[in-house]
Amino acid sequence: MRGKHVLLGVTGGIAAYKSAELVRRLGDRGAEVQVVLTAAAREFVGATTFQALSGRPVRDSLWDPAAEAAMGHIELARWADLVLIAPASADFLARLAVGRADDLLCTLCLATAAPVVAAPAMNHQMWANAATQANVATLVQRGVRLLGPAVGDQACGEQGPGRMLEAAEIAELADSLLGGVGPFSGRRVLVTAGPTREPIDPVRFVSNRSSGKMGYAVAQALRAAGAEVVLISGPVALPVPAGVRCVGVESAAQMLAVVQRELPGCAVLVATAAVADYRPVSVADRKIKKKTEQLTLELTRTTDILATVAAGANRPFIVGFAAETDAVEQHARDKLERKNLDMIAANEVGTGKAFDCEDNALLVLWRGGGRAELARAPKAELAAALVALIAAHCPAKS
Ligand SMILES: Cc1cc2nc3c(=O)[nH]c(=O)nc-3n(C[C@H](O)[C@H](O)[C@H](O)COP(=O)(O)O)c2cc1C
Repeated sequence: MRGKHVLLGVTGGIAAYKSAELVRRLGDRGAEVQVVLTAAAREFVGATTFQALSGRPVRDSLWDPAAEAAMGHIELARWADLVLIAPASADFLARLAVGRADDLLCTLCLATAAPVVAAPAMNHQMWANAATQANVATLVQRGVRLLGPAVGDQACGEQGPGRMLEAAEIAELADSLLGGVGPFSGRRVLVTAGPTREPIDPVRFVSNRSSGKMGYAVAQALRAAGAEVVLISGPVALPVPAGVRCVGVESAAQMLAVVQRELPGCAVLVATAAVADYRPVSVADRKIKKKTEQLTLELTRTTDILATVAAGANRPFIVGFAAETDAVEQHARDKLERKNLDMIAANEVGTGKAFDCEDNALLVLWRGGGRAELARAPKAELAAALVALIAAHCPAKS
């Protein structure tokens, strides 16, 4: 966040007192913070507090001739690298969802090209209300990113979802949304993750044990290294890392189609997904009934995503993953050559190893005979080490 411009919008909720702390936490991370208060927010926390903490005069009105003469609202909207609204009241979310521009903060949200992020805070009934949920769905669909709310004790004495996240959590998430400055700054990368599901009939499928944890960790590490990350994910139960765009898919064929659609302009493809090698030859259109003692499924090969991308023109730097139960290095080296990859990260799989674990160990091989052993560590640490190796070996931006 160092040197980044964060426009912190504070709206009228009890949690506004936490926003003072948030200014400090954003500042700790090197951000320049400009606070904008709504009229209701001023009822909760004084502008003087925010001015002292941010070192900048607070803005709170569209109709302020002095402020407009210095930095007009459109310039302020352009100044922001990130618009962060914390707390975001139910009323503010409603105004944002319908595109109102009748106060300074709403107007800035409409006028900015920066990502807009909101940390909702309200009574749990207000949060659960169908109107609020419809507004939230509209905003998310338009690309507004929500942080929280958390579940827990509320200022009204009740319990439930609606608490604003703590200031430190919001600052950390906002930081990762902005992305680090690193070797992949300004470069687009694709990461595939998770298992695929190959349908047998409307209720059954063939799949595997991949949890997606390694791929999600790689996506997060690439984002931290400055990349614009597109994560193409099979069905998993993981939160999408902040700042990463995720496209959900089910089958190997869908994953291939999305990879091909997203590929143009990508510098790197990291294929961690455990894509099914085989799919049922035919998919029954009705549930297969339990009639016979034995049932034989006929399977056919799926299209190999890595080999297809590697054979294409203008191919990116391709990093494959190999999950092997034996002769790991030999199988991985063979896959590197056979599929014409640039790098391969191999891990041993089997009972209690790699799949659905919190940690893992990787053997990384690359063209020309290079190798590196990454010792057993949490997947986030391994992902950061792998991203450093990719940065060292993939061609620099032309
Ligand atoms: C004491 C008090 C506490 C409030 N707390 C919240 C809250 O936590 N969340 C919320 O969405 N609205 C809360 N409200 C209602 C908002 O302040 C009200 O909807 C206001 O119009 C919000 O305006 P704004 O979104 O422009 O800041 C509260 C109101 C009062 C009087």
